[in-house]
Amino acid sequence: MNKYFSSHFHQDKVTVHSNRTDQRCLNIVGRLVPVLLLSSIAATTIFSFYLIYPNPFPGIPKHELQVQHKSLSIQTHQDHAILNCDLFAGTWIRDFEGSRYTNSSCVTLPESKNCFKHGRMDKGFLNWRWKPEGCDLPRFDPKNFFEMVRGNKMAFIGDSVAKNHMDSLLCLLSLEEMPKEIYRDSEDRNMIWHFPNHDFTLMILWSRFLVAGEERVINGTSSGTYDLHLDKMDTNWTPNLPTIDYAIISNAHWFFRPIYVHKRDKLVGCVFCNERNVTNLSVGAAIGMTLRVALDYINGCWGCKGIATIVRTFSPAHFENGSWNTGGRCNRTSPLGKQDINMSGSELELRNIQVKEVKRAKKAGEKHVKSFRIVDVTKAMLMGADGHPGVFWDNKYMKGYSDCVHWCLPGPIDVWNDFLMAILERRTGIVSQNMSKI
Ligand SMILES: *[C@@H]1O[C@H](CO)[C@@H](O)[C@H](O)[C@H]1NC(C)=O
Ligand SMILES: *[C@@H]1O[C@H](CO)[C@@H](O)[C@H](O)[C@H]1NC(C)=O
Ligand SMILES: *[C@@H]1O[C@H](CO)[C@@H](O)[C@H](O)[C@H]1NC(C)=O
Ligand SMILES: *[C@@H]1O[C@H](CO)[C@@H](O)[C@H](O)[C@H]1NC(C)=O
Ligand SMILES: *[C@@H]1O[C@H](CO)[C@@H](O)[C@H](O)[C@H]1NC(C)=O
Ligand SMILES: *[C@@H]1O[C@H](CO)[C@@H](O)[C@H](O)[C@H]1NC(C)=O
Ligand SMILES: *[C@@H]1O[C@H](CO)[C@@H](O)[C@H](O)[C@H]1NC(C)=O
Ligand SMILES: *[C@@H]1O[C@H](CO)[C@@H](O)[C@H](O)[C@H]1NC(C)=O
Repeated sequence: MNKYFSSHFHQDKVTVHSNRTDQRCLNIVGRLVPVLLLSSIAATTIFSFYLIYPNPFPGIPKHELQVQHKSLSIQTHQDHAILNCDLFAGTWIRDFEGSRYTNSSCVTLPESKNCFKHGRMDKGFLNWRWKPEGCDLPRFDPKNFFEMVRGNKMAFIGDSVAKNHMDSLLCLLSLEEMPKEIYRDSEDRNMIWHFPNHDFTLMILWSRFLVAGEERVINGTSSGTYDLHLDKMDTNWTPNLPTIDYAIISNAHWFFRPIYVHKRDKLVGCVFCNERNVTNLSVGAAIGMTLRVALDYINGCWGCKGIATIVRTFSPAHFENGSWNTGGRCNRTSPLGKQDINMSGSELELRNIQVKEVKRAKKAGEKHVKSFRIVDVTKAMLMGADGHPGVFWDNKYMKGYSDCVHWCLPGPIDVWNDFLMAILERRTGIVSQNMSKI
């Protein structure tokens, strides 16, 4: 397996120079990578994360399912409860309405997330919806979403899980309008889509760490060890910032490996290197430092007035009975309950660090006319243990290995866009018809 982890990927650079009236010019600096590597990118991205990451769920007892038949939404006494309630504290309840889209309605659905095509038989995991404690969360409404983002550009900035999120949004939006592909790099890492009828541009800008970072090459071989620079940004996303209205930022999954963190000429510390003379950093500390640098950069960006930044919190994985390379699996067919998740576990600890950084940036942002919001998926997805591809993915190059990191489409990840819609509604005040009835 080692070739998958020692492979060295050169990221493409996508720069979208554009004024608000919309001319676009792409400057693509790419390097060819061998065909095999191309095909195994997904695998590498998933699995090198798990070299060190522990199994979060050793033998969880089956929880009592909370079954609630759908009596949805028309609860007039709760006027606009959604505008005030904590959307992210809740539980999964039965909802037999199922998914809004299918693998045939969504033509952009990536192979590796098309779990049904790759043999997943159980469909019951689609019959749940997220129920916040204090209100109902309206389902994604593509019409209303388009209304809120008409004329805007939205960029997902992050790794393959950020792309998973964007792919879910593409499927949901394509119920209303088919996206037009404007740009795609050879590794499907950077993409731009346009919805002409709504003049909405959606893109993913690939960034593992948000700040500049490169893999150490030792004797011509990639080492799996990275150097990060807190004083330099990852220029795959920053040049685009002035053209972007909504930046949806996440970082996390690439931090579970040996990483040396530098600031100017100084070594600040390192993650998983365990050297006597170097400060030991936790994964969370490194995630927090880099997120802080990224959010400070946005606050300090003169050309980015009015940008709304939304940080998506840590998305947990669910390898059971082993780690990714020791037979770990994820074949659950229903979600976990609140009582099954560890509220003081490492996933929520990472989430808390991210939330803290967003609060800090938000405070600083008040004087820069910048807004910061959180799409806090961690608790919902800790319970969403039934939503991973497991063995049902396009795993030609890693047969038998389970993907318990990414999420099936359709699946519980679609709730991230229910959250996103609710956050935008709070921001824009454009509330969908159905929502105003809640
Ligand atoms: C959709 O999933 C079904 C299995 O449920 C599969 O037979 C079919 O090939 C898939 N269609 C597409 C377009 O992926
Ligand atoms: C809004 O409500 C109408 C009528 O109740 C329903 O047909 C439609 O599916 C709802 N839309 C969403 C996005 O829930
Ligand atoms: C690099 O290669 C040389 C010669 O093969 C070897 O002596 C040296 O130990 C290698 N260095 C590392 C860090 O592996
Ligand atoms: C660094 O942290 C790791 C894990 O927390 C621990 O095992 C190790 O002993 C620490 N190393 C030093 C030099 O403190
Ligand atoms: C720490 O020690 C190792 C060898 O023990 C050395 O290679 C490295 O340069 C030292 N790092 C710093 C920052 O002093
Ligand atoms: C993990 O092991 C337990 C106990 O042996 C078993 O009940 C459970 O089904 C296993 N889970 C998976 C995903 O293999
Ligand atoms: C998951 O896999 C384990 C091991 O193969 C099996 O014992 C268990 O019944 C499976 N669980 C489900 C829900 O299929
Ligand atoms: C929850 O996670 C913490 C931190 O990893 C750990 O110390 C504790 O034992 C876990 N609790 C349970 C019930 O698993």
